Amino acid sequence: MEAILASTPSQLKSPFQSLSSKLWPSFSLTLRESKRKTIRYPPASRIRLRVFANSQSAPASAMASEVSSVPSEMKAWVYGEYGGVDVLKFDSSVSVPEVKEDQVLIKVVAAALNPVDAKRMQGKFKATDSPLPTVPGYDVAGVVVKVGSQVKELKEGDEVYGNINEKALDGPKQFGSLAEYTAVEEKLLALKPKNIDFVQAAGLPLAIETAYEGLQKTNFSPGRSILVLNGAGGVGSLVIQIAKHVFGASKVAATSSTGKLEFLKSLGVDLAIDYTKENIEDLPEKFDVVYDAIGQCDKAVKVVKEGGSVVALTGAVTPPGFRFVVTSDGAVLKKLNPYLESGKVKPIVDPKGPFPFSQVVEAFSYVGSSRATGKVVIHPIP
Ligand SMILES: NC(=O)c1ccc[n+]([C@@H]2O[C@H](COP(=O)([O-])OP(=O)(O)OC[C@H]3O[C@@H](n4cnc5c(N)ncnc54)[C@H](OP(=O)(O)O)[C@@H]3O)[C@@H](O)[C@H]2O)c1
Repeated sequence: MEAILASTPSQLKSPFQSLSSKLWPSFSLTLRESKRKTIRYPPASRIRLRVFANSQSAPASAMASEVSSVPSEMKAWVYGEYGGVDVLKFDSSVSVPEVKEDQVLIKVVAAALNPVDAKRMQGKFKATDSPLPTVPGYDVAGVVVKVGSQVKELKEGDEVYGNINEKALDGPKQFGSLAEYTAVEEKLLALKPKNIDFVQAAGLPLAIETAYEGLQKTNFSPGRSILVLNGAGGVGSLVIQIAKHVFGASKVAATSSTGKLEFLKSLGVDLAIDYTKENIEDLPEKFDVVYDAIGQCDKAVKVVKEGGSVVALTGAVTPPGFRFVVTSDGAVLKKLNPYLESGKVKPIVDPKGPFPFSQVVEAFSYVGSSRATGKVVIHPIP
């Protein structure tokens, strides 16, 4: 980490920042050692965007105290207009966000991408988005370097992880996790389980919160059966494990393409279904819960038992299916930490990663391809 000694909030530069600017068989449930790669940044193309470092912050008087080794500027990925991956620019002089009284500042060690990052960048949620320019990224794992005055439990040096946006689509933060630093409410964070590294932890928050919240909304109880559509993705791979090990599912079935069936079995599914060869509507059985993580609610409702529940994360909803949008909650992470620490629930990091910070564009493209297995993680961050 670059140590630039500076900065009190009043020393921050003008908010008008000049942006220089971009399975196996090795697959296993645990991450292999993080790869050290040479970081090459894209050639700088100079554009001017307005980056208000304090646009989501409280007045300086309410700020946290000590900023000793926190610089005033940081490296981050930024987009100033909606579009595909070509709108992403690398910027080496974005103002480090200030913290509100209930927030902590995290030195980001690893971040992860979710499909929502790509959809948000395309402008699909522009009606409820924060103002551009945007530093994307929901998922973070890192170290607390500064605490707000009302922060109760976390302290400098704590290793934490979380989804930085309480409401995924409703005013997500302008300053996300694809940066050296990000400011996050304490209530959205949990201490990182000691047995997993930052890369593994970064891949968990949004996906595991979605998996858990969806199951909870079905009132899932032990002994029930579940079919997961898209069992190999970030969310589905955790739905499988949480249904089995946290909620006590009696039978877990899941879909994937042919090459990922063994992976599904390694997660503990009792029935791995190849969606390229089988139609779920032809299955001889029905399920208490169908968790649709791909957008096939019309099919999902045909394989749920009478009175059962169908969770629909994306696409059109067919009754009795229901949609919800994940809420970030550190309490959920704290509740699930023992399952992670015992190894019952395992983080899944896509074997193509982790992607170094210089390859965020490639990582976005990969997430957008809908082919990722588990999570697409960015590490190291400068
Ligand atoms: N409502 C919410 O709060 C919420 C929260 C999180 C996510 N989501 C949404 O839920 C969806 C899943 O998210 P995610 O992060 O799990 O996605 P993801 O990780 O990008 O999913 C990738 C996986 O999709 C699988 N896949 C592609 N087509 C498939 C098909 N026809 N049937 C079964 N699997 C298929 C791929 O497996 P193969 O290579 O084997 O095809 C791949 O492993 C996204 O649309 C996301 O935006 C919504």
